[in-house]
Amino acid sequence: MKQITPTFSVEEQLTPEAIEAAVAAGYTTIVNNRPDGEKPDQPTAAACARRAAALGATYHHIPTPGNRLDPGAIDAFPSAIDDATGPVLAHCRTGQRSLMLWLVTQIRSGAMTSGEATALAREHGFGTAALDEWLERPRAPAAAPNVDGFFDASTFSVQYVVSDPATGRCAIIDPVLDYDEKSGATATHSADAILAHIRDQGLQVDWILDTHPHADHFSAAAYLREQTGAPTAIGEHVVDVQALWKDLYGFGDEIAGDGSQWDRLFADGDRFRIGDLEASVMFSPGHTLASITYVIGDAAFVHDTIFMPDFGTARADFPGGSATQLWRSMQAILALPDDTRLFVGHDYMPNGRAPRWESSVREQKASNPHLAGEMDEASYVNLRDGRDRTLPMPKLILHALQVNIRGGRLPEPDARGRRILRIPLDALGGAEWDRKNAKAEA
Ligand SMILES: [Fe+2]
Repeated sequence: MKQITPTFSVEEQLTPEAIEAAVAAGYTTIVNNRPDGEKPDQPTAAACARRAAALGATYHHIPTPGNRLDPGAIDAFPSAIDDATGPVLAHCRTGQRSLMLWLVTQIRSGAMTSGEATALAREHGFGTAALDEWLERPRAPAAAPNVDGFFDASTFSVQYVVSDPATGRCAIIDPVLDYDEKSGATATHSADAILAHIRDQGLQVDWILDTHPHADHFSAAAYLREQTGAPTAIGEHVVDVQALWKDLYGFGDEIAGDGSQWDRLFADGDRFRIGDLEASVMFSPGHTLASITYVIGDAAFVHDTIFMPDFGTARADFPGGSATQLWRSMQAILALPDDTRLFVGHDYMPNGRAPRWESSVREQKASNPHLAGEMDEASYVNLRDGRDRTLPMPKLILHALQVNIRGGRLPEPDARGRRILRIPLDALGGAEWDRKNAKAEA
């Protein structure tokens, strides 16, 4: 047996007796990756499943033939691991296919780079042909949506309309509701400009999507839903963000904490369609607890993870943020095909250049100073945390979160019909006088 982590080991073909020994040793889940009947003397999966069930262990048969990684097995393997209540023992004939499936799972989730996965396999004495083949797999070119970016100069944020050229269906991503903090005025100029573009192009709105609850602007999702009737969506972990910020603001039942402000809460791996375009969701925490990336055809909307290659990456010091998680989320994004177009959530126009918001996986890997070259998780976390200690809070963070955890709705009016924001004092760190950079990033 080869123990890969404290909760995952691989083994050669198991007999029912060996399953009994494994369960006695503490394994709660057995995964069999070998198709039945490869050899005449091989115990059947059904016999092994019966023995495991009698012992109270969970048994999964996720066969992948020969020395290849079957796409169905690749898709089924992660949930067998995620659902396990204790250590998992996976086997095939030699343990090699099981380890390769586990490594692909790690690469797809961003927990490991392909180089780390290959090195780990070698360390345990396994060949990596199947993994190499998967890494170099030919991929059908993904459909290319039309993407129009709308730059909001007052918050340096980018709003998107992504549309299917074949059907004219579209989604709006990260729309801004205008807010002037000096006068307390709100307006819909930015959102109306998006609606005008949609009308001009003859598009139909299928979705209004947010990548995360923003700290620098109000979301226009609720307004756009009223105007278009299209459903709103965000990542399912928004409920954790609601809990965190409700506590910070001292809100009670006036804000529901169950995500019911959106029509759909997306989990990692969820799929949906925009016309004929396939869209999928990657959970990308780090900047916030709830951040997600939308992958739509050959375009990924990476929001506040990776910024333009001449700038770097998003900060990870808001409540619930984590530089380690952000690094892992970015590695998962960089595991997308090199030609994937990456659309960022902000651009801070370094050295006074004009705003830009589109790059590619290839460009980011080659030249982003936070990602390229020798950068690894430990050095990134060091760099990120160091830089974050110098950045003041975004000026609208306390204004914005109370609107955005309501799905972009303003507070209910009081008896006189006034809507009042609440600003908790001395509840959030990062006062400007403790930070040396003048300019905040979001
Ligand atoms: Fe953000």
